[in-house]
Amino acid sequence: MKSKRIIISGATSGIGCEIAKIYISQGWKVGIIGRRENLLKELQDLNSSNVFVQAMDINSDNATQQFQNLITQLGGMDIYFHVSGIGYQNTQLDYAKELNTVETNCKGFTRMVTFAFNYFAEHGGGHIAAITSIAGTKGLGVSPAYSATKRYQNQYLQCLAQLSSMRKAKIIFTDIRPGFVATDLLNDSHNYPMLMNKTDVAKAAYKAVEKKKRIKIIDWRYYFLVAAWKCIPNCIWERISVKN
Ligand SMILES: NC(=O)c1ccc[n+]([C@@H]2O[C@H](COP(=O)([O-])OP(=O)(O)OC[C@H]3O[C@@H](n4cnc5c(N)ncnc54)[C@H](OP(=O)(O)O)[C@@H]3O)[C@@H](O)[C@H]2O)c1
Repeated sequence: MKSKRIIISGATSGIGCEIAKIYISQGWKVGIIGRRENLLKELQDLNSSNVFVQAMDINSDNATQQFQNLITQLGGMDIYFHVSGIGYQNTQLDYAKELNTVETNCKGFTRMVTFAFNYFAEHGGGHIAAITSIAGTKGLGVSPAYSATKRYQNQYLQCLAQLSSMRKAKIIFTDIRPGFVATDLLNDSHNYPMLMNKTDVAKAAYKAVEKKKRIKIIDWRYYFLVAAWKCIPNCIWERISVKN
């Protein structure tokens, strides 16, 4: 039987690296993307015949060409899993941090996801999954660009899901929204409550994609948190001090 093929961006560390390990262990052909080539090669060493590496920056002008090269190496793509992302707590509103976050989480995300959409539309369908965040479900004052760009991702995936249906493109979408996960992204001096393990989050994300879930909040505690804060009127929310 022909192996299934997945491409994962943001596979050099954290959640993306753990997700890649699961697909590798399941015998998939796995294409991995990130800027740190040495870390991609370490992952490739787990199964050099099934793992294909593309060191690249999703913000670069030739990113789509490099994405296409990786698809060609794999002989096609069945799932595109977008995990690449950056984020900061930025109460001082350092504008460089804000703009970098917009560049990667909006522009880079759009570049990669639209390319995957067009590829699948031309090849009879496919599946686009992305790790977004619960931060997109309510505006968080401590991380303005992060929270806003994650909302952008949530909304963009919904737009593409409707577009796929309008065009009968047979593309499935899975928007995975974790709460706090212990990874390099949170490697700052702050204290994060209800911190989850990256391996557990990757397993839950894998399961959500297998079940073709449209939206998955990880884990159940964050499911209830999101449900609760959605009920808070904006006029009250904007007066609450949410920090850690
Ligand atoms: N940790 C959390 O609490 C949490 C919660 C909810 C959602 N998330 C989301 O989960 C995703 C993964 O984050 P993580 O927590 O696993 O942190 P991480 O360990 O810092 O992983 C971030 C990944 O994104 C890649 N990346 C960043 N900028 C890139 C670029 N310009 N081009 C290509 N790849 C790029 C990094 O690879 P290179 O540096 O090698 O390029 C790395 O593989 C992010 O989208 C994040 O927003 C995280």
